[in-house]
Amino acid sequence: MPYDLIVIGSGPGGYFCAIRAAQLGMKVAVVEKDKTFGGTCLNIGCIPSKALLHASELYEESGLLFDKMGIKVGRPKLDLAAMMKFKDEGVDGNVKGVAFLFRKNKIDTFRGAGRIAAPGKVEVKAADGKTETIEARAIIIATGSDVARLPGIDIDERRIVSSTGALLLDKVPDRLLVIGAGVIGLELGSVWRRLGSKVTVVEFLDRILPGIDNEVCRQFQRLMEKQGITFKLSSKVTAVDAADGKLKARIEPAAGGAAETLDADVVLVSIGRAPFTEGLGLEDVGVKKDNKGRVVVDAHYATSVPGIYAIGDVIAGPMLAHKAEDEGVAVAEILAGQAGHVNYDVIPNVVYTYPEIASVGKSEEELKDSGVDYKVGKFPFTANGRAKVNLQTEGFVKILADAATDHVLGVHIVGADAGNMIAEAAVAMEFGAASEDIARTCHPHPTLSEAVREAALAVDRRAINM
Ligand code: FAD
Ligand code: NAI
Repeated sequence: MPYDLIVIGSGPGGYFCAIRAAQLGMKVAVVEKDKTFGGTCLNIGCIPSKALLHASELYEESGLLFDKMGIKVGRPKLDLAAMMKFKDEGVDGNVKGVAFLFRKNKIDTFRGAGRIAAPGKVEVKAADGKTETIEARAIIIATGSDVARLPGIDIDERRIVSSTGALLLDKVPDRLLVIGAGVIGLELGSVWRRLGSKVTVVEFLDRILPGIDNEVCRQFQRLMEKQGITFKLSSKVTAVDAADGKLKARIEPAAGGAAETLDADVVLVSIGRAPFTEGLGLEDVGVKKDNKGRVVVDAHYATSVPGIYAIGDVIAGPMLAHKAEDEGVAVAEILAGQAGHVNYDVIPNVVYTYPEIASVGKSEEELKDSGVDYKVGKFPFTANGRAKVNLQTEGFVKILADAATDHVLGVHIVGADAGNMIAEAAVAMEFGAASEDIARTCHPHPTLSEAVREAALAVDRRAINM
């Protein structure tokens, strides 16, 4: 019997979509080419990287802070194999959770690479070469993304690694060279620095973390440098010589000029990710892609071919798990005749380093560029009681509000636990809050979240603790 819906890919986009569609009464099939469900996020992305960030942060903290708090444990010793096992167990629990949810929602699963043979028809080729064709009213492409590569620099996932290999190293590299000061470079650079690597980050642009509020990035870069990470901005790696057991990277100024050579034990290539559509047969069925290889969709996630939809990393927009999830839910609801919708103005973004960076809405630069008149409220964690007692005073909260209406336009936080705190700002923005609404909301004491309220009070120059 044909399905209502076939979802190709079981990452956060695909599995959220499948579950929501099943909740809405659809008969759903999921096709996944990998051994486990959960996609990049659960297997080689968000979940394993956060496990290593968590463990390495505690490792460093136990050496630096425990003593100050009267906890005598001596110098921490690293058992890297055990840390990797801890990470793998976390991944295992999560991917099994998705398999359980598929069963619970009576979703049929097909193991193998999916190819769209025609609208409504997906051919699934299993690892043993056997193929079968399944049919549905609608097909969702949720095939995600893959590592972007640098011409001439071959990733072997042992010494020249992408994020995937950087999550699997069996030895702490003495010198780690990171290409790209984006999210992966800073998160995984932080992990290996904490565990003992000397980390150098080479970035093409004259700033780190493009897209994130400049003031936030400037302070964050200083904090990273204090922690021991070296940045080479406005620079590019043009070659990595891997002969005779050593890695020698050739680094040139982005604008051209004399090259220098840097020795490394491991090189991490983290210059972005590219949409993944290999083997899907999109050209044969006529699904259009843009000049970056992303599947083109309309506001309802419909591609250029009726009955075929796309969501997540494979379409335009931030490559974030929660964005893919929300699109998965929205398209399922649209197919069920409901008003599925994603508010792209309120997609939070978090960098899970220490301290964390979290933002939602517009940066100051974006507001300036669009000529919007805005007010700024800022509050430093040095003035927050809980941050002081926890020895977590790095960073600040910045709230940008419309000068005329006071509507919150953007919230940017550098600080411990910023990723959890940004959710409050996202809810406020979804409800169209003014900074005054946050300022008048009672926040629990003593918490770091009081800094969010104080920043809202600071918009109107009436912060209490400053
Ligand atoms: P994916 O998760 O990539 O899933 C696509 C799935 O489709 C895969 O399982 C793939 O095997 C399958 N597939 C592809 N082609 C076929 C085919 N032809 N047939 C069958 N199956 C197919 N985002 C965050 O929001 N927070 C984070 O902390 C975060 N950390 C990250 C850390 C790292 C190291 C990386 C690499 C990414 C991270 N991301 C994070 C990004 C996040 O992982 C992605 O945005 C998210 O996984 C995209 O979801 P998706 O469902 O679109 O695609
Ligand atoms: P990115 O797009 O975040 O950063 C890539 C960086 O590399 C940019 O700063 C860019 O200017 C630089 N760059 C590009 N080419 C270069 C070159 N030749 N030489 C030097 N620098 C160069 O990409 P990244 O870090 O690889 O992450 C990929 C995606 O995964 C991101 O889009 C992100 O959304 C997602 N991700 C999200 C996380 C989170 O939400 N916490 C964590 C990890 C990944």
